Amino acid sequence: MVSVVDDVTAEIIALKKQRDAIILAHYYQQGEIQELADVTGDSLKLARAAAAVHNPVIVFCGVVFMAETAKMLNPDKRVLVPDLQAGCSLVESCPADKLRRYQEMLRANGRRFQTVCYINSSAAVKALSDWVVTSGNAVEVVQKRVPPDYEILFVPDRHLGAYLQEVTGRPMILWDGACIVHEIFSLSDLLAMQRRYPQAKTIAHPECPKNILEHADFVGGTEAMRQYVARHHEPTTFLVATEANMIWELQRHYPQHTYLPVPGVSCACNRCPHMARNTLEKVRDCLRDLAPEITWQPEFDKARAVLSRSLLEPAAQTATQPAGD
Ligand code: 13P
Ligand code: SF4
Repeated sequence: MVSVVDDVTAEIIALKKQRDAIILAHYYQQGEIQELADVTGDSLKLARAAAAVHNPVIVFCGVVFMAETAKMLNPDKRVLVPDLQAGCSLVESCPADKLRRYQEMLRANGRRFQTVCYINSSAAVKALSDWVVTSGNAVEVVQKRVPPDYEILFVPDRHLGAYLQEVTGRPMILWDGACIVHEIFSLSDLLAMQRRYPQAKTIAHPECPKNILEHADFVGGTEAMRQYVARHHEPTTFLVATEANMIWELQRHYPQHTYLPVPGVSCACNRCPHMARNTLEKVRDCLRDLAPEITWQPEFDKARAVLSRSLLEPAAQTATQPAGD
């Protein structure tokens, strides 16, 4: 019997061919979307893939800031999203006008700093920044690209910022933002799981608070987690402290292992509600209608320059002039 999912999948495959489109999907998308994608990855891998795409149409299955990044790095392509409402709590936590005022206050107080923003931010915030980082390149950018004689203002994720301070030894002024998914992992449940599975390895995303990270065997972005798991050849149990769809990717490539999601304080799921807005039906509809589309916005010009030098250029080209000077 042919299911509805099979029907929709067949429609997507036909429309993709008709539009000469490519589908990029983040590891936090539900499995049936990842399965259809031409490329799956973390923010960094998908941004770099988007920059190199030759197809005229990119369908970006992730949240909107990721699709905006794809548009900025490949402006001539049509970038479609299944749902324009797929936001991010980190983006919301840092309005650009508030950041601008804070930067002005720091400068008025004689502080000499560069602004490093996490890619989970609006284009307007990126345009106000000297560097854009992802969980995949943040340590390298902070260590090799931000001149040592500048302070660092890190926005918007206070947990990732605190982790970077600890790993790089660079003190930072931290914005007070957090991810609603990663902030709520339950420490008591994690400790109970570790007692129950003493041989298990705990892997955690650096958006988690310090109390979770200090109990992890490995801390890294989603692609780094995948690589860590890939280095384990013997069947192993992994306790996964990140969005639970990540397990689909791990299971697909490394099925010899057991993956247990670390629960949140109030639920056992840890699904990102923004990522979950995307469905197979919406992927089909956006390919059929060529909408919703990411359109060029005035702040994209400046943000594009910051994104390109941060994500696409080699580390040797260290900046000496901060954006605000
Ligand atoms: P990655 O950069 O590790 O893909 O993470 C993106 C994200 O939104 C994490 O919550
Ligand atoms: Fe944003 Fe958190 Fe969802 Fe990632 S998991 S997109 S940081 S709300």
